[in-house]
Amino acid sequence: MNINIAILPGDGIGPEIVSQALSVIKAVCEKYGHTLNCEYALTGAAAIDACGNPYPDATHELCMKSDAVLFGAIGSPRYDNDPDAKVRPEQGLLAMRQKLGLYANIRPVSTFSELLHRSPLRRDLVENADFICIRELTGGIYFGRPQGRSEDGNTAYDTCTYTVAEIERIVRLAYQYSMKRKKRLTVVDKANILATSRLWRQVSQKIEKEYPEVETEYMFVDNAAMQIIQNPKRFDVIVTENMFGDILTDEASVITGSLGMLPSASIGIHTSVFEPIHGSYPQAAGKDIANPLATILSAALMFEYAFNLNREAEDIRRAVYESLKAEFVTEDIAANGNARKTSEVGAWITESIKTSVNK
Ligand code: IPM
Ligand code: MG
Repeated sequence: MNINIAILPGDGIGPEIVSQALSVIKAVCEKYGHTLNCEYALTGAAAIDACGNPYPDATHELCMKSDAVLFGAIGSPRYDNDPDAKVRPEQGLLAMRQKLGLYANIRPVSTFSELLHRSPLRRDLVENADFICIRELTGGIYFGRPQGRSEDGNTAYDTCTYTVAEIERIVRLAYQYSMKRKKRLTVVDKANILATSRLWRQVSQKIEKEYPEVETEYMFVDNAAMQIIQNPKRFDVIVTENMFGDILTDEASVITGSLGMLPSASIGIHTSVFEPIHGSYPQAAGKDIANPLATILSAALMFEYAFNLNREAEDIRRAVYESLKAEFVTEDIAANGNARKTSEVGAWITESIKTSVNK
């Protein structure tokens, strides 16, 4: 198969972790006889530096003509404390989501028994927790207008907007995922307060009737935040709006032991994007210490979702599990004094793929 991917390394640790994922992707393509074609493009602070735009047209064109996008991370501390910055790296990510129509962000939360000792939760609470968060990604308060300040600067406002069509497509997708899993869906909202949440609930209740086999529950977001740490095993598929999903998935990710482990897929109308859920970790940039596993696992999601190549995806996951079992891991998850470099972990996994026997 021809595998044409756009590589958007982005900022901070992005280039380092993406280069490890790419070495894994290359090994997989060689092993299974696929022809890989990669093209690089700029995004985030790196793109602002080069041309003043965090998601340049050339980057968008490359994404549109590719089969999938592998994305590193975006964000730079140079912009975080400057309220007057005209353009921010994160705007590049939002522009990409909007222009590619990536309305669904799929974040699987699964635990690794080797890492349970790292979880802030008790082992018995988190062991075997396995759920998927489906976050709406192109609507809500992230994109609603008007947004800004009053003329005297003393008032600021954001707008949260959702249409029936936007809610329908993401809730339907969540039901489709539920049908393939344990048939349990949690719709998270704040319908006791927000008009948009009441519309979510109304639309979801309509779609619920189309999926009588799925057990649906509705949960307020504050309660969901609590239950994710109190009883994470109760969840199977969670669907929610953009901002709630942003917050809940960061929370959900750390219960597995490390934020550095969780991959994501953003899917929608045009090319899908695969990226780790963590940020650009600028303090670690260039030090070869960041955990590349979330990006490598994102590459596994890419084979599965964008190319329907499940065997290839499984081979990557197997190699990742083996690196954990061998404790060949970066400092965020290593036992004291036994940390490997980003590039060493990537090389170990690449080698494991090359040498393991084709199942
Ligand atoms: C994420 C990130 C982004 C978001 C930022 C970097 C704009 O936190 O993908 O979860 O808020 O969506
Ligand atoms: Mg986030």
